[in-house]
Amino acid sequence: MNNFKRTLITTALPYANGPIHIGHLAGVYVPADIYARYLRLKNEDVLLIGGSDEHGVPITLKAKKEGITPQDVVDKFHGIIKKSFQDFGISFDVYSRTSAQIHHETASEIFRTLYDKGKLIEKTSEQYFDEENKQFLADRYITGTCPKCGFEKAYGDQCESCGTSLSPTELINPVSMISGNQPVLKETKHWYMPLDQYEPWLKEWILEGHKEWKPNVYGQCKSWIDSGLLPRAVTRDLDWGVPVPVEGSEGKVLYVWFDAPIGYISATKELTADWEKYWKDPETRILHFIGKDNIVFHCIIFPVVLKAEGTYNLPENVPANEFLNLENDKISTSRNWAVWLHEYLEDFPGKEDVLKYVLTANAPETKDNDFTWKDFQTRNNNELVAILGNFVNRALVLTQKYYSGLVPECGNLTDSDKETLKSISTIKAEVEKSLDSFRIREALKNAMDLARLGNKYLADEEPWKVVKTDAERVKTVMFVSLQITANLTICLEPFLPFSMNKLRVFLNLGKLDWVKLGDTNLLAEGHQLNEPELLFEKIEDDVIEVQVQKLLNTKKANEIAQSKATPAKENIEYDDFSKMDIRVGTILEAEKSSQNKKTFETSNRYRN
Ligand code: 2FM
Ligand code: ZN
Repeated sequence: MNNFKRTLITTALPYANGPIHIGHLAGVYVPADIYARYLRLKNEDVLLIGGSDEHGVPITLKAKKEGITPQDVVDKFHGIIKKSFQDFGISFDVYSRTSAQIHHETASEIFRTLYDKGKLIEKTSEQYFDEENKQFLADRYITGTCPKCGFEKAYGDQCESCGTSLSPTELINPVSMISGNQPVLKETKHWYMPLDQYEPWLKEWILEGHKEWKPNVYGQCKSWIDSGLLPRAVTRDLDWGVPVPVEGSEGKVLYVWFDAPIGYISATKELTADWEKYWKDPETRILHFIGKDNIVFHCIIFPVVLKAEGTYNLPENVPANEFLNLENDKISTSRNWAVWLHEYLEDFPGKEDVLKYVLTANAPETKDNDFTWKDFQTRNNNELVAILGNFVNRALVLTQKYYSGLVPECGNLTDSDKETLKSISTIKAEVEKSLDSFRIREALKNAMDLARLGNKYLADEEPWKVVKTDAERVKTVMFVSLQITANLTICLEPFLPFSMNKLRVFLNLGKLDWVKLGDTNLLAEGHQLNEPELLFEKIEDDVIEVQVQKLLNTKKANEIAQSKATPAKENIEYDDFSKMDIRVGTILEAEKSSQNKKTFETSNRYRN
C-alpha cells in the first residue's frame, strides 16, 4: 500500500545503437511492466514511460563507421526497439525518443532555467582534441597508461584494471581511440552542475530520508556522497544532441546524461497535456526502473538538476537491478553476446510469457545472475508446463469430460476445501507484500504458489478416482478447482499477460480487477466454459540445441576476429622452441574447489 494518488513509472531509455537484449529486459522492462500491470489491475492511476536514448558519442561513431548520419542510426534502432517491445507486450503508455522536437524543447528549457537562475557554473578548461578528426574527445575515447597501476589500456574516466576514477589528463601517453593519434590539449568552455553544493541536501534526502531504498541502491549512493562530489560538466563539444541554448555555445550540445532523463518528462508531455500532474503534483509517486550502472545518474545527478530547477517532484524510489549474464559471460552488444529480443520473438513465436517468466524467476535483483538456455528449458518444462499448465489443464479437461464444460454446483464444502479456498487470500497478501517492496521475483514465486495449491488439491482429492464412487463430491472438487483457476487469471496477469488472456478465453471469463482476487465465486454454477487448449508446451532438446549452437558460433566468430586483431608474435629460433615442454591432456573430471579458489587442482585427475 502507498499513500500516493498516482504513480509515474519510468524505464531507462535504451541507447538507439543496438537492439534490446535479455539483460535490458530482466533488469528494467520486465519488472517495470509487471509493476505497472499490477497497479492498473488495482485501478490505480499509473503511467509507464519509455523511449529511446538517441544522443551521445557512440551513436556518432557508429554513424561515421557505417558512412550514414546519426539520425539514420537512431531511426533504424528506434524502429527495431519499439516494435520488439510492442510485440513482447511491454505495456508502455508512451514510447518516445530523444531526437523528437518536444524533447529538444523540454531539455533546452530546463537547461535555460538553470542557466537563468544562476545554478550552473561556466568554466574554461583544457581538454583533449583529436586534430585529425577535428573534435574534442569524450573521456571514454581516450586511452592511455593508468598513473596508479600502470595498466596500458585505461580509459580517460576510469582504469578498468584498478578501478580508479581518472580524468583524461592524468593518463600517461594518451591516445585518441578515434584516430589512434596522440590528442592535443585545447581550451574549451563548458557549463557545470555544482554537485558539491548539493551534498548536504543529498545526505538529508537520500541517506536520511530514503533508508528504505534497496541496499544496492542506497549503498552506491552513500559511497558516491561519502567520497565527495565534484562539479559535473553538463555540456559537450559535439554536433549531435540538443544544442546548448545560450549565446556563444556554437558546436556544443547538452551532455547525453543531462538530456536523457529529461526524456521521461518529454515523453509524458507527448502523451498527455496533463503531464504536469505526473511530474509536479506531490501526490504523484515517481519510480525509476533502471540497471545498476545508471544509479548515480538517477539518484544523484538528475535529482540535483530537478531540485535546482525547483518545480519538479523527485523520485520516491529507484528499484535498480544488478546485471544478467549469458551462459557465464557478460552480455555485450559489441561482441554480439546476447539473446536479442527481436530474434527471440522470431524463434519462439507465441512464447513471450515463457521469456518473461524465466527472466523474472531468475531476476538479478540482489546480485548478478546467469541466463542459460538449459535453465530456460527447465523452467518452462518443470514449472510452467508441469505446475501451472498441468493444473489448469486438468481442471478444464475434467470439467469438459464430466460436465460438458459447465461449472458444477458447489455442494458441501469440507473444512479442507474451505481451507484451500482461504489460502487464495493468503497468497494474494504475500504477492502484494512482495510487489509493494519491488521484490518481483519473490512475487512471482508467491503467485505460482496458487498453481501449486491447485495441483496439490487435485492430487489429494483425486477426482478421477472418486468419480467412480461419489459423483457429488467430484462436483465440489471441480468447483473448487475452477475457482482457483479463475483466481489464477488475476494473480498471474501482471507476470504472464498473454497466457492469462488465453486462460480467460478458455474460462469464458472477462478480465477481473485485483480486488476480485480471493473471491471464491468467480465462476457461477452453470457457467459455460470453452474448449481448452494447452496453456504451455514442453520445449524439446533440439530447440535448445539450436540456440546454444548460435552462441557457440558467435564465440567462434569473436575468437577469429580477436586473433586477426592481435598481431602474431615474431618467429623464434628452433632451439628456443625445443626448450619448451608442451603436453596435451584430457580433463577427465572437474569439480569446484571447496575454498572457491580460482586454481586448478593438479592431482592425478589429469592424465597425459
Ligand atoms: O545506460 C543506458 O543505456 C542509457 N541509455 C540509459 C539512459 S536512462 C535515462 F536517463 F534516460
Ligand atoms: Zn589502474
